[in-house]
Parts: sequence; structure tokens; C-alpha cells
Amino acid sequence: MRPLRSLFLWAAAALCLAACGTASDDAVIPHPASVEELPGSFRIHAPMALSVEAPVEAAEALTGYLKTTPLPIDTAEPDAAKNYLRLELSDDERIPASEEGYVLSVRPAGITIAARGEAGLFYGLQTLLQLHEQFGSRIPAQRIVDAPRFAYRGLHLDVSRNFFDKEFVKKQLRMMASLKLNRLHWHLTDGAGWRIQIDRYPLLTEVAAWRRGATWQQWRDGGAKYCRFDDPEASGGYYTKEEIREVVAYADSLHITVIPEIEMPGHSEEVLAVYPGLSCKGEPYSGGDFCIGNDATFEFLENVLTEVMELFPSEYIHIGGDEAAKTAWKECPKCQARMKREGLESVDELQSYAIHRIGRFLAKHGRRLIGWDEILDGGLAPDAVVMSWRGEEGGRTAAAAGHEVVMTPGGYCYFDGYQDDPTTEPQAMSGFLPLEKVYSYDPAPADMPGREYVLGVQANLWTEYIPTAEQAEYMLYPRLFALAEVAWCQPEGKDYRAFRERALRFTELARSRGYNTFDLAGETGERPESLEPAEHLAVGCPVTYATRWNGGYPAAGERALTDGLRGSWSYKECWQGFLGCDVDVTVDLGEVKPISEVSADFTQWYSAWIWLPARVEIEVSDDGTDFRRIAVVENDYPDTAERPEYRTFGWTGSEQARYVRYHAILNERVGGWLFTDEIIIN
Ligand code: ACM
Repeated sequence: MRPLRSLFLWAAAALCLAACGTASDDAVIPHPASVEELPGSFRIHAPMALSVEAPVEAAEALTGYLKTTPLPIDTAEPDAAKNYLRLELSDDERIPASEEGYVLSVRPAGITIAARGEAGLFYGLQTLLQLHEQFGSRIPAQRIVDAPRFAYRGLHLDVSRNFFDKEFVKKQLRMMASLKLNRLHWHLTDGAGWRIQIDRYPLLTEVAAWRRGATWQQWRDGGAKYCRFDDPEASGGYYTKEEIREVVAYADSLHITVIPEIEMPGHSEEVLAVYPGLSCKGEPYSGGDFCIGNDATFEFLENVLTEVMELFPSEYIHIGGDEAAKTAWKECPKCQARMKREGLESVDELQSYAIHRIGRFLAKHGRRLIGWDEILDGGLAPDAVVMSWRGEEGGRTAAAAGHEVVMTPGGYCYFDGYQDDPTTEPQAMSGFLPLEKVYSYDPAPADMPGREYVLGVQANLWTEYIPTAEQAEYMLYPRLFALAEVAWCQPEGKDYRAFRERALRFTELARSRGYNTFDLAGETGERPESLEPAEHLAVGCPVTYATRWNGGYPAAGERALTDGLRGSWSYKECWQGFLGCDVDVTVDLGEVKPISEVSADFTQWYSAWIWLPARVEIEVSDDGTDFRRIAVVENDYPDTAERPEYRTFGWTGSEQARYVRYHAILNERVGGWLFTDEIIIN
């Protein structure tokens, strides 16, 4: 029923847009900075006479691009006084100062796009294409003046955990261009597979790009081993240099820069499996960190980066830098010798040494290093750009110190998390990130010191749980529409309700263009329990903790379990987390009272090592000393189930008591976390 209904609603909305001809203010994503409606409309009844006032190369590029779009054009009559489409490079003061800004004027006689730079003309065309897609052949007259908030508007794509072919990448580039996004961060290497041809190191693509196990999960469950490309069970792949050049050139034609990422010093299991001499132990499958004490590591990395720089003209080269384990370095004689020679006090400083050294190498070749925020640990390389992913802290610290940053914090920008009810959505990574939360993000709020160093913002698509192209698009859209507005629009003009209407329409348009999207019209929304404060007998009552919550997930501390606030779908909101121990708490109701219910909810998130309890024991007492057990509740939900689950463990009956002891017992087989949100007593 849902798709039909949403299609009907969308069709009705589109009809209204076309018939009323006045709603263009809400027709475009990202929403333009200013839209002034004018009388009348422009009707496309024949190919528009195209004129492009720009240097020859730019004019040819724009004309060539237009020929790939549904806009009908005729290049034979550039001086036509009606039915024209004029593109003009100009430094008229009414055009926004940005090279990417533009003025689009739709008038009954014709359409003019004026901009200071070729990118501005291209973005004016994107706006026109969206208007054409929504209004058809009669576009309401209007004047749009528009420019981006941020220069860096990115999408990251992990092709290591699961491989996606070049046609998939090009298809997403087309959508990115439509959304005025301009950076593709291509995560080409990681432990689950190497994805780029490097002539000097053929084993990277003969072996490290292949594995047994079609999906990341199957590969992991099968022991995470690589195999040769000609193994009958080989699964995986890589991009040849020719394919990379094709993607980079295609992106360039869409005003998108492709930033390659080559992971180091961690997340490199696949390299070390085939070139084990570059690891500390010298053996395959002995860890994921390069040996930093070994000069051969730098020779390898510099040779790889040399071939990478030949393929990618991007100023920025991403070198990863995240989540190195650093443990082998502590025992490794070569690493220890390097630390001594260089006067390094810690393995953090050893990592920083490696990043500085690679940064100098890139700088020598006219490039700049960009890395995940761990590149801050042990001292940041001069001129390095920080990509802030572990929250906003890294980005804020770097920006305050005058370093350029790209904001991509997990809580707002990780599109591998669930976008709706995790118990019914397709399996995803831990995390809950609905459309509204993406939209709410401000990468550079007014009170942020150094906010002028925020280059922009990026969505990240990690693909551990994304085995197919369809699933990747499902996770991207419509959340990427929201990210596009975060990146392009000034925060004052943002309005979630209006955006959601646009996103509903645009989702249907994206589907008609062949993209698989999440069904926004059928969105369930937040966990119902979390929307209203719970009312029950224990609200506000003191709780004694025999075991203590972990500092990482305190919720409201010692008030958390009786504050009436229930957890969100996200275990990070309003849930109290206990690591490696039971939840053993006693609630004091203040006086002996009749009780008929004691219960608490727990959640299981396999990918975050959070489990339902093995069992729950509930006891009551009048005096806080002598307790009598009233219930033992066993868990029957398997700890092998990867889908998130929320379960209530409780008792109902009839008792009199002042103290209620709620004891949830950790599943010893798996260890890990227990998360609960409220002890409910009635
Ligand atoms: C990351 O998510 N490890 C950057």
C-alpha cells in the first residue's frame, strides 16, 4: 500500500506545482539562497537557442554536458531573441562572489544563467534541470540568486568492504552533481580488499583484491582470508588504471574532484597478507598495521602514492590514519629503534612521525595530506587537513588551532547506520541516523572558534553491511539530499518541514531516474517509547547501584533508570551502558506500596557488542535487607542474531514492597555490554 500511496501523493504534488506554477521556491535541492517569483512562465516548445559566453574550452564542456541532459537545445542560432538559453561568464556585481554561485533568470522570452566561474554556470544548469524535471515544459518565471555555504561538499564511498563497479560510481556522481556536491572521497583500500591497480605491486590486485566470501559478513565469518583472482570461489575486484582515469574524467566533467584514500598505517591487513615483510612480525595475518620502523614500508607507500598521484589530479590525497592498533609497534625492535633514534616517547608519536613523513612526501609533489582525526594524536603535520569523524572534537580542536577541517562526525554523517526502525530495516551498522538528524547538522556553528577553517562537510558510506548496489543507494537516498542542504545552504534558511516535502518529491524523482531509495513516505520515525516521558511508581525514586554504569554511556547517571526518559532507537541516547558486568540495582520506593509490575527494556546490537541479558532476577524487600525473589526471566533471543532487538524483561503479579532489586545477568559467553533505559514499577 505504501508505495502506491506515496506515488499518488507525489503525483498530486507535482500536478499542483505544474498547475499553480508558483511553488518553485520549494522545488530545488539544495534549496537556493534566494528565489524571486516573476510574472509568467517560460514554455519549452522547441529546442532552445543556446549561447555560451565563455572561453572556448568551457563553452564546449557546457554544450557537451547539455547534450547529455533532457533539456532540448539548438546551437545554430546563438543570437535568438526568444526561446533562448544563455550561459554567461560575467563579473557583474549582482552575481554572488563565489566561483560556484550563479544567477538564474527564467523569463517568458528565455533563460539566462550568469556566473563568475564555469562551476557556477554548471550549478545554475543543475537548478534549471531540477526545475525542468518538476515543472515539465512550462517553468514559472523567476530569478534565483544562489551560492554555496561550503567549498567542500563531499561523499565518501567505501569500496573495500564490498566492491562496487565503475558504473555504480558514475551513477552516484551524476546524483552528486545534481545535488551540487563536489568531492568524492574514494576509500580504495582497507582490510577487506585492495581496489586499485598498482603496477609495481601486482599482488595487491592478484590476491589482496580477492577473497572467499561474496559479502563482507561471509568473508569475516569464514576467517577473513584472501585468495588469488583465479580461485574458483574468488569474489571481489579492483579498478584498472583505465577505469580510474575514466571515473576521474567523468567526475571532472561534473565538477567533482575525486580524492583517493590509501589507508595507512592501520587498516592494511590485505597489504600485509601479500607483502608480510612490511608488518612488524613479518608474517601474514599477524595484524593490520604497517611496521613504522622498517624503511621498506615508506618505500612501498611512496611508490604506491606516486602511482596514485599519476591517476588523481586532486590536491588532497587521503592517507587514512584511523584506528591503527599500534600494539605490535610496542614489541617490534625496528619500531622501538626508530622511536629511540627520533626521540619519540609513545606509539602515538610514532604514528605522527609516519604521517608527517608521508605529508612531506606529498608536499614535495605539490599535494596536501588529508586524514581521519587520529592524525591529530601525537602532533599534527603542518598543512594537513583533518577529517573529523570521532565526533566533532577533533575538527573543533584542529580548527581552533588554525588547521583546515572537513566535518564528518559519526552522529550526523555516517550513512551506514539505520535510518528508521532498526527492527524492521535491512541490516545496517550500529547507529541510528534518520533524515531529520542529518538535516539538523551545522558543521560550523556561530560560536565555534576557528569556524572559518571548516572547509565543509561529508557523508560517509561504509559498506560492511552493504553488499549490493541497490542497498548502497537505499542507504544514501534521501539522506544525501539532507547532507547537500547542510553543505550548500546557510543555516538561517533551513526548515526541516519544508525540506522534507522537497525530499519526498525528490525521492520519487530519484526513483524515476532509476535510483533505489528508502521509502521516506513510509517512515516510521523514532522509537515510540522515547517520545513521551514514562509515568510510573518509581519515577524520581533513588537507585542504589551494586554494579556501575560505564562512563561512556552514563545517560543521566544515577537518576537515569528512574527519570521517566526512555531510550531512542539509538543505544547512544538515553540508554545506560554497563560493560562486562551485570546490571544490579535497587530502587527505593520510599515506603511499602502495593506493586503489580516490574520491568525494564534491554537492547541487543550485535555490531556494537551489546547483548540482551542471559536472565533477569527480580527481588523485593520491605526493609532493604531481607529480599525475596519474585521472578526469574530467561532470555530466548539468540546472541548470534545480528539484527538489533529491544526486549522487555519483567514480572507482573501482586506484591507489597518498598525496595525492588532488578538484577540483569550478563551473557558470559559473549561478554560485552548490557544497555537498559528505565526500571518501570507499577
Ligand atoms: C572511520 O570510521 N574509521 C574513519
